[in-house]
Amino acid sequence: MSDHSGEAAFNDLVSLLDYPVFVVTTAAGDQLAGCLVGFTSQTSINPPRFLVGMSRKNHTFSVAMKADHLAVHLLPRDELELAELFGGQTGDDTDKFAKCRWHLSPEGVPILDATPAWFVGKITRRFDLGDHVGHLLEPVSGSAPDELGEVITFSDVDHVEAGHEA
Ligand SMILES: Cc1cc2nc3c(=O)[nH]c(=O)nc-3n(C[C@H](O)[C@H](O)[C@H](O)COP(=O)(O)O)c2cc1C
Repeated sequence: MSDHSGEAAFNDLVSLLDYPVFVVTTAAGDQLAGCLVGFTSQTSINPPRFLVGMSRKNHTFSVAMKADHLAVHLLPRDELELAELFGGQTGDDTDKFAKCRWHLSPEGVPILDATPAWFVGKITRRFDLGDHVGHLLEPVSGSAPDELGEVITFSDVDHVEAGHEA
C-alpha cells in the first residue's frame, strides 16, 4: 500500500480500476475514424447523456471535431482483435475500416458488424478536459441484445500499445 498525496496517489488509484473499454467511431464527409476508448461515463439518466473523452492527438479526434455524431460500441470478450485494431493502430496511416466489417447507420456513422451492442449519440456539447476533449452524447439510435455476456475491460487490453501517443 502506498500513502502519498496528489498525482502519484491518483495514478496508483486509477491503476487499480478495471473498467469497460469501447470502440468509438465517427464520420465527417467521406472520412471515417474510430479508436478504442476507456475514458467514458454515463452522466445523466433523464435526459440520457454519455460522455466520451477523446485525446486531442488522435486521428479520431480530428474527424470527431467535424462530426455531428459518435457511435459507441461495447465489445464482447471474443472481439479482442477488434479492440487491438482500433486501439493499437492509428487512422493517420492505417485504414481500420478496410480490416473489419461495418455498415453506415442512418446518421452516417460506421457501425461495426461484430458488436451487437452499440448506440449512436448526437454530440450536444464539447468540453475541455485537459489533454482529452469531452464529447457529450444524446443517444439517438442503437441496439442491445438481451444478453451480451462478458465485455472487454481494460485488463484485457493492457498489453495494447496505443496507436497514437496521448
Ligand atoms: C486501453 C486503452 C484505452 C484507451 N482509451 C482512450 C480514450 O479514452 N480516449 C482516447 O482518445 N484514446 C484512448 N486510447 C488510445 C487510442 O485508442 C489509440 O491511440 C488509437 O490508436 C488512436 O487511433 P486514431 O489515431 O485512429 O484515432 C486508448 C488505448 C488503449 C489501448
